[in-house]
Amino acid sequence: METPARVIVFISGRGSNLKSLIDQQGRYTVVAVISNKPSAPGLQFAIDADIETIAYDRSEFPSVVAHKKALFEAANRLKPDLIALAGYMQILSADFVTENYGKIVNIHPALLPSYPGLDTHRRVLESDDSQHGCSVHYVDAGVDTGPIIAQAACDLAASDTEESLAAKILKLEHQIYPWVLSQIAGSEIHLDGRRVVFSDKACKEARALGFLLPPA
Ligand code: GRF
Repeated sequence: METPARVIVFISGRGSNLKSLIDQQGRYTVVAVISNKPSAPGLQFAIDADIETIAYDRSEFPSVVAHKKALFEAANRLKPDLIALAGYMQILSADFVTENYGKIVNIHPALLPSYPGLDTHRRVLESDDSQHGCSVHYVDAGVDTGPIIAQAACDLAASDTEESLAAKILKLEHQIYPWVLSQIAGSEIHLDGRRVVFSDKACKEARALGFLLPPA
């Protein structure tokens, strides 16, 4: 059996995606969880699973730059194969992204490239869109602009509210994020420049699961 890929997960809050990533380890192992907020409730999921946690508060450092540097150096020291952002509410430093390009992935609650940034559910409700969803993408230097790996979509109902959409989208996130990480860990998906490359097996599985993949 192949050695599981070493994954570090970055969180800032609730950590429901972290929990789904921990629950579906196999082809990857979560070796550490890093947070820019020691009070992040999601850290408890890591503690419960005996996974190392590293959490530094901004107040412990003289500047934002020093805070970020400490967090990102801690991540690099662990030599991860993959870095998964899961509700991480801090812009990564350009150096960290460049050094780890192709290794960092993020989950975003919208069908990118539409609705990058915050408040996606409210913005979708204010639009004429008939669908909403989530995207897993590689991280580049921009905000939610990196190459899209896979998406999961759902129809909007007239009765939808921000709360109902948040619940629907989170359920999709918990399915697609562990699947994508497992595929990358098993070398079924990789990045070639800005092109996301899939094995036939990964394509078939994605289709069977109802996920959307970028055009080949
Ligand atoms: C998710 O909606 C994710 O798409 C976004 O932040 C939220 C994190 O939720 N990036 P959780 O902390 O994983 O519950």
